[in-house]
Amino acid sequence: MKLKTILSALVIAGCGVSAVVAADDPVKVRESLMKQIGGSMGALAGIAKGEKPYDAEVVKTALTTIGTSIKAFPDQFPAGSEAGSEASPKIWENMDDFKAKAAKLGTDADMLLAQLPADQAAVGEAAGVLGKNCGGCHQLYRVKK
Ligand code: HEC
Repeated sequence: MKLKTILSALVIAGCGVSAVVAADDPVKVRESLMKQIGGSMGALAGIAKGEKPYDAEVVKTALTTIGTSIKAFPDQFPAGSEAGSEASPKIWENMDDFKAKAAKLGTDADMLLAQLPADQAAVGEAAGVLGKNCGGCHQLYRVKK
């Protein structure tokens, strides 16, 4: 388990580095942030389903990554940057709502971090709370390329 924790920390660190390298391309940055969020949700889902043993450090890292990434996410949408991405033009028409949806996921992640889910069942509930945010925003603001 220790090794797994170290490996996932390295993966997260690696993503951080590529985000910095691609800092001038907002599409790459925001997709990389979403990938980190997706990977963190995958880690939580693995525990929730019993595929991975409960590990408080993994849960903490996943929630921290989701919270940090979603807070940086809405800043990566300069006007005209929808080309070649899955970002819907509706984002720019409803920027306040889009930002509010991002902020909601950030608040949920912070709330769960403050009361860290303590076992498999609690991780399942946490994943359910977080997961509502994903679909809620994707349906409105993410289009398939
Ligand atoms: C505030 C809105 C919003 C929320 C909340 C949100 N997403 Fe996204 N997500 C997007 C948008 C917009 C894109 C498309 C970005 C682009 O292509 O420029 C995206 C893309 C993605 C991608 C594809 C990244 C890639 O490789 O291109 C994944 C994976 C993803 N989201 C996972 C999640 C998960 C898991 C959650 C919930 C924990 C979540 N998202 C919550 C808006 C959101």
